[in-house]
Amino acid sequence: MLDLTAVDTLDILMVVSEAVPYSKTGGLGDVGGALPGALARLGHRVTVVTPRYRGVEGGDEVAAFPRGAWLGSPEFRVLERTHADGVRFRFLDCPAYYDRDELYSTPKGDFPDNHLRFALLARAALECAVKLGEGASVVHAHDWQSGLVPVYLRERCLRHAPLAGAGLVFTIHNLAYQGVFGREVLPSLDLSWDLFTEAGLEFWNKISFLKAGVNFSDVITTVSRRYAQEIQTAEQGFGFDGILRRRADALVGIRNGIDTAAWDPAADPLLPARFSADDLTGKAAVKRALLARVGLAGPGQWARPIIGMVSRMVDQKGLDLIAGAVNSGELEQLDASFVVLGTGAPQYEAMWRGLAARRPTRFSVVVGFSEELAHMIEGGADLFLMPSRFEPCGLNQMYSLRYGTVPVVRATGGLDDTVEQVDERTGEGTGFKFEPYTSDAMLGELRRALRWFARPAAWRRIQLAGMRQDNSWDASARAYVEAYARARAASAAR
Ligand code: ADP
Ligand code: GLC
Repeated sequence: MLDLTAVDTLDILMVVSEAVPYSKTGGLGDVGGALPGALARLGHRVTVVTPRYRGVEGGDEVAAFPRGAWLGSPEFRVLERTHADGVRFRFLDCPAYYDRDELYSTPKGDFPDNHLRFALLARAALECAVKLGEGASVVHAHDWQSGLVPVYLRERCLRHAPLAGAGLVFTIHNLAYQGVFGREVLPSLDLSWDLFTEAGLEFWNKISFLKAGVNFSDVITTVSRRYAQEIQTAEQGFGFDGILRRRADALVGIRNGIDTAAWDPAADPLLPARFSADDLTGKAAVKRALLARVGLAGPGQWARPIIGMVSRMVDQKGLDLIAGAVNSGELEQLDASFVVLGTGAPQYEAMWRGLAARRPTRFSVVVGFSEELAHMIEGGADLFLMPSRFEPCGLNQMYSLRYGTVPVVRATGGLDDTVEQVDERTGEGTGFKFEPYTSDAMLGELRRALRWFARPAAWRRIQLAGMRQDNSWDASARAYVEAYARARAASAAR
């Protein structure tokens, strides 16, 4: 075991393509926003480098790079802003790359220059530190968008000793997104063909930024323990299981935390009433407001349980299981109302819209992205459904637990790690889990949850058990510090 007390103040350079409050398409943005603050609270100095997407305002210029600062690089500036908690944010201001309506793609597909956009993120984060004469104890990169960070550090920053010796940590938030591009782009990334090997960036005769992150880092983390095991299997490894098994000694699962200030039912400004484990009465007022907000108010609605969903509507999230339950007519048979928020694949958006049109008193669907409605659903629903095919960590089930909204989840990844199955005999537990990836298993577990809902005192116990669970960042941030210590030890040996 490493002695944590021996870790002094670390200088952490974090490179991440999303960070709340500046940008977010999913949980990565939540993590990019909250993990730096949690590390700062432990006394470490954190600098976050992220693109300046459309709408990000402010910051002071700390560096400017002319076009061609290195092979193929565009002109860009680096703007900096320090948050009240001491975390320093650096925004890459390169309008040609980042000033767009979306982060990664349009409905027509991925931006064709994503390899250049995210090579710049990786390279510029390092080159900016070099230019400003800064070092780092650890450089922490996330997902394929930052996957080239360890490659550039090892290949291009060697002359800058304060940075070259940094420990390299890479976090996988979702193995399904691998940053795969044609091999022909390699020279445009200012990388040599020597790297086009099995042990390097080569992936089925193409290149993968995710593989670069995995192969060139000292420590690899992923966002739950269960997912760390799953991704080493052929079923859930997305072609990376062999690569990850080879690096199993360097791979660790660290569950995400949740931002307990932004997601606090006792102080949430986006809710019309507040509540806590000590006094749940406000939750009823939130339910009433939610019903009115989404147009489900009417006779009988109040007593009927609300099943909430806030989700990207993609296969990962189990939408095909729901489609199966819709097609068999069984979803509509449940004695419950659905309040659904999300965007994604057109066929799933159409499926929900169709249900809402056919059964307007039972199904309410908002296709779109709304922070406010997400909080209302977490606060006002009775149950929260996450039937994911796979789920590296998942944040919504943890928000649900905190808001007394009992999760019904598939037992996979972080869902399995964070939800404790309600025992049919004792009623102990925090939620409901099903294992087989089938519509029937999902429906069966939903029916079981609804039977428990019909027993108010027992239900209250389940709610309270979840609300008292500690999923804050604190323990997770400490686990990252431990991973950083391991990475530093490994980098010293490289
Ligand atoms: P993933 O990152 O795979 O989408 P997570 O559960 O880790 O899944 O995180 C999803 C995050 O995005 C949560 O904070 C969730 O509330 C938010 N979210 C997803 N869809 C929407 C939406 N349509 N409107 C508002 N928030 C959303
Ligand atoms: C990914 C995963 C999700 C995880 C999030 C943050 O988007 O799909 O499960 O919670 O990253 O780590």
